Amino acid sequence: MLKNADLSVIIPTYNEHENILGLVEGIKGKLPNGLSTEIVIVDDNSPDGTGRLISRYVEDQLAFNCPVPNTSKVTGDYAINDSRSTVKLVRRESKHGLISAILQGIESSSGRYILVMDADFSHPPETVPLLVGELLRDPDCIVIASRYMTGGSIRGWPYRRKLLSRLAAKIAIHGLKLCNVRDPISGFFAFPRHIIENIRFNTYGYKLLLEILVKSKGVRIKEVPYTFTDRKAGKSKLDNRVVSDYLNSVWYLYRYGRQSKKESKQTTEKRKSVLFLSKAGRFYTVGATGLLLNFIVSTLLARGAISNLWYIEASTVGIILSITSNFFLNKIWTFEDRKFSSGTLAQYVSFVGLSTVGAMIQLLLLYIFVQSGFGYVFSLLAAVAVASISNFLLNKKWTFHEKIWG
Ligand code: GDD
Ligand code: MN
Repeated sequence: MLKNADLSVIIPTYNEHENILGLVEGIKGKLPNGLSTEIVIVDDNSPDGTGRLISRYVEDQLAFNCPVPNTSKVTGDYAINDSRSTVKLVRRESKHGLISAILQGIESSSGRYILVMDADFSHPPETVPLLVGELLRDPDCIVIASRYMTGGSIRGWPYRRKLLSRLAAKIAIHGLKLCNVRDPISGFFAFPRHIIENIRFNTYGYKLLLEILVKSKGVRIKEVPYTFTDRKAGKSKLDNRVVSDYLNSVWYLYRYGRQSKKESKQTTEKRKSVLFLSKAGRFYTVGATGLLLNFIVSTLLARGAISNLWYIEASTVGIILSITSNFFLNKIWTFEDRKFSSGTLAQYVSFVGLSTVGAMIQLLLLYIFVQSGFGYVFSLLAAVAVASISNFLLNKKWTFHEKIWG
């Protein structure tokens, strides 16, 4: 049975017969030790016979290579070793574009780690072990081979193309808020498969990395400098269509970013209102238990069941007990504040003080309402409602140091 590879190198090809075999050999000679690797070539039925060339190479490989058991562990160290790599060909009927070729290659691959690169030696095989080494050191990040950082450069492109590429990178960085990336339009990068598992890809054209960066926001990014060298053999497939596809993709990703920001804002708002209401609910439940406790204690103390206190004294004990139990229940249950220290006394004093303020608000409002001609019951209910809301809010903010909303 075929074992899953550790690393899948995805190489899309269209008319690359002069480059591909040399590149495969070049990569094989640079692969990290202890890493089983598959090189997946996705060819779009290249008229120059690239596909046929590779399938012959794969057949030879099957005929001459005995599989080597993979027993070593994957670590951040690497050395040259080509004995554990296989080459696989994915044939497609016709030219469907770079992004879709890469995605199909990824789908047909099995590696836990994925590395994407071009077939025309613009992405030097020497940089492959650097990318993989970085990835193995931090296996949850995206590692990008970057032209636009110290040590990186472009060789062989005319000034106009350099300018265009620089402009495209700037548009992506500023338009899509990818400020932590210097070369977001690189075609040479590596990442762990799980990063893209939940992404639905919607762009087409050349820049798959852009969509990964936008849709996996929050993932750590590392960049490794390299020199992009324009192809020596074959022709670039870049045309005006690639430029318009690029602008379309950026526009789509820009709207996607705004939409997901809006959605996440909505969920936070929803979560905040649920939190607020559930805390208010708990606060009033605690208030109700306080009333009950107050009533039971006052009655027991005044009616002689436990003692025969003067009813004012009995009620005072009831009030003190209920305020105290309200305080602790609110602290522990309503506001989930389980820290007890010297500051707890200050909290208690604040709670008593603010509850007194609440009681005064209630009395004042009751007086105002009754004096304005409202019935007593209505006035009492309205005063209690306002006072208990302000009681909740004041204690939330000043006693338990929470934001009012949330
Ligand atoms: N299967 C398949 N299908 N492969 C394709 C297709 C396609 O439709 N179009 C291009 N390719 C392959 C090429 O054979 C090559 O291996 C690679 O994709 C890149 O194509 P080039 O035509 O060489 O691209 P480029 O050099 O102009 O563009 C480069 O620069 C960009 C950075 O500005 C590429 O490296 C891009 O990946 C990179 O993003
Ligand atoms: Mn190229």
